[in-house]
Amino acid sequence: MDAIVLLKEDHKVVEGLFKQFEKAGERAYTEKRRLVDKITKELVTHTYIEEEIFYPAARAKVPQTTDHVLESVEEHHVVVWILAELEKLDPKDERFDAKVTVLMENVRHHVKEEEQDWFPQVREAMGRNELKDLGERMDKAKADAPAHPLSVPSAQQ
Ligand SMILES: [Fe+2]
Ligand SMILES: [Fe+2]
Repeated sequence: MDAIVLLKEDHKVVEGLFKQFEKAGERAYTEKRRLVDKITKELVTHTYIEEEIFYPAARAKVPQTTDHVLESVEEHHVVVWILAELEKLDPKDERFDAKVTVLMENVRHHVKEEEQDWFPQVREAMGRNELKDLGERMDKAKADAPAHPLSVPSAQQ
């Protein structure tokens, strides 16, 4: 699969989960816990394959994306720390929904920048075959993704 198509599909899955969270009732604690755990799994896997494979490949191929890549890593850093906090936070805690809202704002901003500002530059510079190889490598690497948000590279940088 084309690398950028794969990443955009991941973005859509996460956005779908965000919408479900927004629709869940304020007191739907079990449902909200389940959704946040699912969001964490999706985002940890996604940030892992981007950081391990896509970002370095993009930077090497299109040096003009360097600043975008560095900013994206900083955004991942914030996101994985929020996810780590949410793991320990009770959905009944008054800060839970607020933290998820800030998580969603961060991720939506990040996805918009990836999809609109710099993925198109990468698509233009890489041929269809290169994007396909990259996509296949990322798809395989999903199996190696860590379970915990603080185990992705950007967490400790
Ligand atoms: Fe990203
Ligand atoms: Fe992404």
